Amino acid sequence: RVDESMDEAKLINDPAIQEAASLLRDRRLVAFPTETVYGLGANAQSEEAVASIFTAKGRPSDNPLIVHIADVESLDQWMEMTPQGEALLKCFWPGPLTLVGRHKGTLASGTTAGLPTVGVRIPSHPVARALLRCSGVPVAAPSANRSGKPSPTTADHVWQDLMGRIDGIVDGGVTGVGVESTVVDVTGEVPILLRPGGITLDQLRSISGEVQVDPGIEQEGLVPRSPGMKYRHYAPQGEMWLVVGDGEEQRSKVARMAMDAAQKGQRVAVLTTEENRDTYQVDHVISLGRRDDPASVARGLYAALRTCDDLGVDVIYTEAFPVEGIYYSVMNRLLKAAEGRIVT
Ligand code: TXA
Ligand code: MG
Repeated sequence: RVDESMDEAKLINDPAIQEAASLLRDRRLVAFPTETVYGLGANAQSEEAVASIFTAKGRPSDNPLIVHIADVESLDQWMEMTPQGEALLKCFWPGPLTLVGRHKGTLASGTTAGLPTVGVRIPSHPVARALLRCSGVPVAAPSANRSGKPSPTTADHVWQDLMGRIDGIVDGGVTGVGVESTVVDVTGEVPILLRPGGITLDQLRSISGEVQVDPGIEQEGLVPRSPGMKYRHYAPQGEMWLVVGDGEEQRSKVARMAMDAAQKGQRVAVLTTEENRDTYQVDHVISLGRRDDPASVARGLYAALRTCDDLGVDVIYTEAFPVEGIYYSVMNRLLKAAEGRIVT
């Protein structure tokens, strides 16, 4: 356990950070907090270390890892930066933005899953920064969950998923952003959004002007184009329904569906917000955060999804959010979790 309120310079001298850094140098696996979610770190230059990430997570080996570095000066060793990428990193690093560019062949091929490109980011979390600086190696780190589970936002989530499979966890409390980094391909003239995350599309466009959105993101159902479609990703054990609409209309729809299911003897959870939680009369009413504070909803999202699994509910009714700002990223995750089950 380290004190995440300390600054990076002090944390570098913390024995826990030094031990974790030495494990990383020894090609072992260490989970650590970033500002988005907890990552499962390994030396990105070691084939052996990186291979053990895929084993510990049960992750398909064709899914590349994000490389975390301490400072922009070392970027040149790993990746070819473009002017488009340069403009974005000047604004958003350190922070929840991953830039995908051509790599230089200096990382383990397991890190890049054999692709010609690599995703790199400089995190802003003081614990992550101290660990990266202290280790002196580039750190490949996917989210520290078992494949098919929500990303972890606490050390306890990591423990539940990976206990016995990794060499250590640096516990730095609850993560701040709550959804993963925004992934942007900057190899071409126009940046392409590959995964919505902590940096919003509006923020990207304010710097780059035009930003394309990878067609895969919309197909996942930001617009409910193909309800019922199946995806390979996290989905709660209970059947999740996402209820679109706003205000009183949305609340009464959720309340009615939840009551109907409860009367049929199903175990029901409602995912809602602080403002609306008193509306519902079912056994499990879980608040994601405050509707008028989208950042709080992003922060609470993954813990709420884990709670649904812990409760063992049969069906989950979730209030949808307007698809803008950080809610764009929240809705992207909710639509995947609902596997296209949308009530309009
Ligand atoms: O916030 C985050 O990004 C967290 C923390 C730990 O930094 N990490 C994270 O890693 O979410 P992971 O492995 O769960 O997600 C990485 C995403 C995947 O969707 C992967 O396909 C994509 O980034 N990615 C990585 N390298 C890529 C590449 N070269 N080209 C395209 N996509 C890439
Ligand atoms: Mg992940």
